Amino acid sequence: MANFIFGVFLILVLSYLSNRVTGKATVKEIHADVDGKLKELNKPAVKTIQSDDGDIIDCVDIYRQPAFDHPALRNHVIQMKPNFNFKEMEFNSKNGSSKLTVFQTWQKSGSCPKGTVPIRRIRREDLLRAQSVQQFGRKPQEVVLKSNTTIGRFPSINSNALALPAIVNRSAAILATVGANYTGAKADINVWNPNVESEDFTTAQVWLKAGPNDNFESIESGWTVNPQLYGDKKTRLFAHWTKDSYKTTGCFDLQCSGFIQTSSKIALGAAISPISMELGQQYYITIGIYMDENTNNWWLIFGNGITIGYWPASTLNVLKNSATMVEWGGQVYSPNVQKSPHTKTAMGSGKFASSLKGNACYMENIGIVDFSTQLQYPPAVTTLAEENYCYTALNHQDGSESSPTFYFGGPGQNYNCP
Ligand SMILES: *[C@@H]1O[C@H](CO)[C@@H](O)[C@H](O)[C@H]1NC(C)=O
Ligand SMILES: *[C@@H]1O[C@H](CO)[C@@H](O)[C@H](O)[C@H]1NC(C)=O
Ligand SMILES: *[C@@H]1O[C@H](CO)[C@@H](O)[C@H](O)[C@H]1NC(C)=O
Ligand SMILES: *[C@@H]1O[C@H](CO)[C@@H](O)[C@H](O)[C@H]1NC(C)=O
Repeated sequence: MANFIFGVFLILVLSYLSNRVTGKATVKEIHADVDGKLKELNKPAVKTIQSDDGDIIDCVDIYRQPAFDHPALRNHVIQMKPNFNFKEMEFNSKNGSSKLTVFQTWQKSGSCPKGTVPIRRIRREDLLRAQSVQQFGRKPQEVVLKSNTTIGRFPSINSNALALPAIVNRSAAILATVGANYTGAKADINVWNPNVESEDFTTAQVWLKAGPNDNFESIESGWTVNPQLYGDKKTRLFAHWTKDSYKTTGCFDLQCSGFIQTSSKIALGAAISPISMELGQQYYITIGIYMDENTNNWWLIFGNGITIGYWPASTLNVLKNSATMVEWGGQVYSPNVQKSPHTKTAMGSGKFASSLKGNACYMENIGIVDFSTQLQYPPAVTTLAEENYCYTALNHQDGSESSPTFYFGGPGQNYNCP
């Protein structure tokens, strides 16, 4: 009996010790993973700029940027300029409206030399905040809600009306168009700094998509507040891509290989300012994404024609021919959407769409390019809001406007969205 008890005791001690050992090994492994990832992501800098906002910007030789780690890009020759003249991609701009410049904070502290690109340095703590080293820098995979709900269809487009599924842990309020093959999209996106809870993130952005709902390709850009990824609640410029609805490919900014940066002036993931004020001065960023007809690379154009870089055709599947859907609007990612208590993370300015300019976040000069190669307001659009009491969407045109303005957003949790 004593032997038996001793035996059980010994087994317990041994299993306790072995758990401790594996526990320690895991921590050690995580640190090794983190070190490896940091080394992979942060390329040697020609010059380093310490920004006032705490960011470190590395000026990296343009041919040593992360994109060259991508198997399809090992021998890629960088296209320095698009083959189109992006001025042709502009609407006859209303005078004055394009004159309010939004800056990136780090630009006050220096600039990158020719032949280099500014890249926001990733820190150990950024990786340790991520759910896993593998998941770092990426949007969560889209899992369709079990209830098989759709947030919208396109009534005006009769042919096999495309339905957008509701996604777990995400709430969206968008304007969308389908029905053509798109080779470009743009919008002037009003800039705000909404409240975001620490596990969540919010975006205001443009998407160009192709492929089926459960395995789509998407290239995206806009602004975001994403404390888990960036370590603070500043409003930041971002780009994102995926080839498989965020399952295993793609990421934000240059946090994986896939986007080729050509600009020495704009850093993806860097903070932008100034921010719009309620009933006061409004600021916006112009985001344009256009396919280069000669190379099929997708260019990301910021502001009045600053080329940030491109998503190379060789890393894309269907999307390298054209996009089949364009979306504009906001998303909140949170484990606390579609339930109560609802997250307090806001979308847009944090005000509902119906409160219009000066209060609600908006997008104007919305346009698409199809094979007519003319930038134009999309012929058929629909608005969709997944949780209408939390975040809303409204397309509205007043007499002075040449095309509708899209308003979107909301506070998240409130009296009607408990
Ligand atoms: C438009 O802008 C140009 C240059 O900034 C200026 O010369 C012109 O007077 C403006 N026109 C109007 C209608 O404001
Ligand atoms: C979802 O609904 C559609 C029709 O509304 C149906 O064809 C499909 O089978 C449903 N999917 C699931 C997983 O229930
Ligand atoms: C879009 O392109 C595909 C081939 O890439 C073609 O089959 C389809 O008809 C096009 N759709 C439209 C609406 O032009
Ligand atoms: C939703 O978020 C919760 C909490 O972070 C997480 O455990 C769960 O896996 C997420 N679900 C999906 C489908 O991403």
